[in-house]
Amino acid sequence: MKRILTYGTFDLLHYGHIELLRRARELGDYLVVGLSTDEFNCKEKKKQSYYDYETRKKMLESVRYVDLVIPENDWEQKLADIERYGIDTVVMGSNWLDSNRFNYLRHHCELIFLPRTYGISSTQIKADLGGKLLT
Ligand code: CTP
Repeated sequence: MKRILTYGTFDLLHYGHIELLRRARELGDYLVVGLSTDEFNCKEKKKQSYYDYETRKKMLESVRYVDLVIPENDWEQKLADIERYGIDTVVMGSNWLDSNRFNYLRHHCELIFLPRTYGISSTQIKADLGGKLLT
């Protein structure tokens, strides 16, 4: 069984997320998602999600491509996660491609960057809806 691991906040779950999860799951047989906790988002990623961790977790668990959701508490947990869950491949979004910060993972597993879906993000949704009056 080939096990895949990816990370993210997945706030306001949208089709860019679903596409990422679908393609990640297609790379193997079991997909683990490291879901950024509210504290990690706030302290390290400097973003605040609309939905709290438990709600984002429930939504992700209802996606057919996701087999297991675990908390992402810090940047340094990846090696421990790879070992604990027997991970073969870590998948990151292409927004991380220019950063070298995950290259060390290649010594422990396969590392794949998947292209982002064009034209959508949680930030964009918030910006677009923020200016509109909801009826
Ligand atoms: N993702 C993607 N295509 C998009 C948006 C996100 O493939 N259009 C991927 C990211 O590359 C990442 C995962 O979905 O691997 C979770 O991304 P996240 O940062 O939670 O979503 P964003 O919509 O990018 O959120 P934000 O606007 O807050 O950065």
